[in-house]
Amino acid sequence: MKKSWYKEMVVYQIWPRSFCDGNGDGIGDLKGILSKLDYVKSLGADAIWFSPLFVSPQRDYGYDIADYRDIQPEYGTLDDFKEVLEECHKRDIKVIMDLVINHTSTDHHWFKEACKSVDNPYHDYYIWRKGKGKNGKKPPNNWLSTFEGGAWEYVEAVDEYYLHVFTKGQPDLNMDNPKVRQEVKDIMKFWLDMGVDGFREDVITYISKKEGLPNGFPIPVACGMEHYNGGPHLYEYLKEFHDDVLSKYDCFTVGEGPLLTTERALKFVTEGDGQVLKTMFSFDHLEADCFMTDWIKTPFNLKKMKKCYQKWYDAMNGKAWHTLYLENHDHPRIVDRYGSLKYRVESAKMLATMCYLQKGTVFIYQGQEIGMTNIELKSIDEFKDMITFNNQIMFNKLGIKGEKFIKLANAGSRENSRTPVQWNDGPYAGFSTAEPWFTLNPNYKEINVAAAEADEDSILHYYRKLLKFRKENEVAIYGDFKQYNKNSKQLFVYERNLDGVKLLVVSSFTEDSVSFKAPDGIDLSKGELVLSNYNDGELSGNGFTTKPYETRVYLFK
Ligand code: NOJ
Repeated sequence: MKKSWYKEMVVYQIWPRSFCDGNGDGIGDLKGILSKLDYVKSLGADAIWFSPLFVSPQRDYGYDIADYRDIQPEYGTLDDFKEVLEECHKRDIKVIMDLVINHTSTDHHWFKEACKSVDNPYHDYYIWRKGKGKNGKKPPNNWLSTFEGGAWEYVEAVDEYYLHVFTKGQPDLNMDNPKVRQEVKDIMKFWLDMGVDGFREDVITYISKKEGLPNGFPIPVACGMEHYNGGPHLYEYLKEFHDDVLSKYDCFTVGEGPLLTTERALKFVTEGDGQVLKTMFSFDHLEADCFMTDWIKTPFNLKKMKKCYQKWYDAMNGKAWHTLYLENHDHPRIVDRYGSLKYRVESAKMLATMCYLQKGTVFIYQGQEIGMTNIELKSIDEFKDMITFNNQIMFNKLGIKGEKFIKLANAGSRENSRTPVQWNDGPYAGFSTAEPWFTLNPNYKEINVAAAEADEDSILHYYRKLLKFRKENEVAIYGDFKQYNKNSKQLFVYERNLDGVKLLVVSSFTEDSVSFKAPDGIDLSKGELVLSNYNDGELSGNGFTTKPYETRVYLFK
């Protein structure tokens, strides 16, 4: 496969509100980010993906944009952003912005205009329909939002309903309108001309809705999704964005599309003339301990996870490039889920090794590199996210209320990944000099960046070693992937091969001792143990008995 800078890249994701507060108001901002760029670089990051920094009422914490060309005042100004961009580039860090074009905020001036009258030039920027029923008081179809009840909201001034597949503050744009597509292209150009290096494209597979907006299969949440996830004109619109804008820049794009299948992804990312996105995020590897959503927990199933990795590798290999990630702002922290809090340090190192030595562009979420964990909030008043409140209504109907619901939310909600980053054990964990906007995890006294810097054996130092190794060994980036012990419920074993160089990665997902025997044809004593989360690499015969959550990486040259 063709080599490319973005394939070798390590991307660090910043969710700005909780990263670092530079002006003492309890909210993360650009000044805070600026003060941590050397830290981000020291990890081995080649790029930063910024979750939305744009002007927004923050009902969905930036994924509801009111102005695509300016910065949320709480975070700073456009000039502050330009300074961050320049300082990133000085350090050879690329900058990737979050492009949220399925919907805007209701605070966007397009939407305010659109609500004034059906003749307003912006009316057709959104998806409007007349109500149904005798008095037109019923919504146009049975679609439900992912975040907040029904997917339609009535606006009296125009006597129509607008579509919102997320919250009612996030009206869906009408991408069938060529003027809207032109706006999107202009927004892309605006940022690319300023010097940014690419986009993460939010729910990009939702931007084309089926003609006639037919009723959806009746499910209690996101009903109708089959009519807009992977809709009829999706490829055509992405091709237009690609051909008219993106292809003119040496930029990176990564698409997000819920319930993404390999078939759908390949349409967009297969290399060659028809390619419209560089890569995409898949989700199913994060469903090895839940059913469809993080809120419905199942016991962790290693075989399920391994199958997902294999499936994506098989589909993409030789054709397209994939992504590797364990955390982002939409899921609970990984170490609580696939690892162990008892063996937090060991399992966090193991998870990183297992994931990032596979084939794909690496994404790391803020705080993951120090093994931040989930939070235990005590009452519903402490929660902040629309999804939590929507789920509260749904689960209450099922009889899951009070403490039972809080327990569920603590385990499943994405608020877990949004607690402020723990920089040190001082006041407010060094995140701010004022009370942070969201609860700090009380474990910041032990789990923080300063402590990790001071401890040679920390998760942080291990991440640095791991990412340096990946950078210096092409086999870890471009090598083929082959699994062994596929039926093991405890071990994930794979090798990577490139031009006669082999990497063998053995990872245990249990605290129990497991006996590992090297696959036929591999002599462990001939390999160099290049990475491990324990300090001894003892062998017994051509294998070893694993320690809790042990990971070992052997290099054969
Ligand atoms: C996906 C984003 O990652 C998530 O945070 C957001 O709420 C939805 N898209 C809606 O924009």
